[in-house]
Amino acid sequence: LKVSIVAGGAGFVGANLLHSLLEEQRHVVVVDNLIRGRQDFYLGLHEEFQKRLSFYNIDLSKPDGSSEALSVAKRYGTVDEVWHLAANSDIYSGVLNPDIDFKNTFLTTYFLLEAMRQYDVATLHFSSSSAVYGDLGGRAISEDVGPLLPISNYGAMKLASEAIISAASVSYLSRANIFRFPNVVGVPATHGVILDFVRKLKNDPGRLDVLGDGTQKKCYLHVRDLINAMMHVRNCSAISKKLFPVNIGPVDEGVTVEFIAQSVVRRVSPQARILFGNGNSGWVGDVPRFHYSIKKLLGLGWEPRISSSEAILLAIEEIVAEEDTGIKRAIYSGA
Ligand SMILES: NC(=O)c1ccc[n+]([C@@H]2O[C@H](COP(=O)([O-])OP(=O)(O)OC[C@H]3O[C@@H](n4cnc5c(N)ncnc54)[C@H](O)[C@@H]3O)[C@@H](O)[C@H]2O)c1
Repeated sequence: LKVSIVAGGAGFVGANLLHSLLEEQRHVVVVDNLIRGRQDFYLGLHEEFQKRLSFYNIDLSKPDGSSEALSVAKRYGTVDEVWHLAANSDIYSGVLNPDIDFKNTFLTTYFLLEAMRQYDVATLHFSSSSAVYGDLGGRAISEDVGPLLPISNYGAMKLASEAIISAASVSYLSRANIFRFPNVVGVPATHGVILDFVRKLKNDPGRLDVLGDGTQKKCYLHVRDLINAMMHVRNCSAISKKLFPVNIGPVDEGVTVEFIAQSVVRRVSPQARILFGNGNSGWVGDVPRFHYSIKKLLGLGWEPRISSSEAILLAIEEIVAEEDTGIKRAIYSGA
């Protein structure tokens, strides 16, 4: 039996990924310390799938943690890949305390790589981020731009992770996909601008305070499109490169924070006043404008199903529903 390890698999993206891997008749080992993820995020999986799924509560930023993850996963069969999605996903908290990004974003990568070397596992799929590019002034960003100068600790620790993955790819890795995510939206929401706005409006239906002047403009992808894209790249036989950095995103130039604020207000509390802050950046380390060139990904035959604005409107419906019911689950149908 083939075994996939999903580090950070109890989080938002991880919980949505599990179904696609389990469909392949593999065993899937989720490793997560649950600082943000929750096991009930993937309770919607049907029973037959649950039987091939194991969960371990492990802190991967510790050297023993990562090797324990590889060691327990081997009990279920041949571990042929690691998906590394564990990180501090809240950029702002890392601005206030860089230690969070150092441990949860960088050290998880460092020790997972070490454990992969020790246990002879040669395929890694890594969730990187647009934050590695820094602030390039709003032009379409392709994978070959440089120098890469991140403006947040989060982006810096993702870039440092990419750097050690690159080094490992000339040594013991046979394949490393570096997926550079845009902003990803959907459920179960663990963080992000939509969740933030919905909760603020529930607390105070009369007003919505927005960080920055609302002109920040970024591209957004629905989590279903993201999972499809990662699986497409992972299964693409045309890729011969050992190290494969690729942007994943929509084809459009994105939407503004003002659009998101207005859309959430319309849905949750139409009478609310929107109060914008100053400056075109939400906080120190927030990139005011970015969108991707996804030529490389389109060249592999993948296309997003929906645009940034459609992804935002769909995610608002999904997040409002989970906040109303209190039930937070990955959505697998059609994934
Ligand atoms: N969601 C986005 O918009 C977005 C954008 C760019 C990149 N990413 C990256 O994608 C990945 C998944 O993000 P997400 O949105 O699902 O975030 P998330 O916070 O929901 O998931 C990350 C998971 O990692 C776990 N984790 C963190 N530190 C850990 C540690 N030391 N040991 C074990 N587990 C640990 C958390 O408990 C959580 O379940 C992250 O690497 C994130 O940086 C996400």
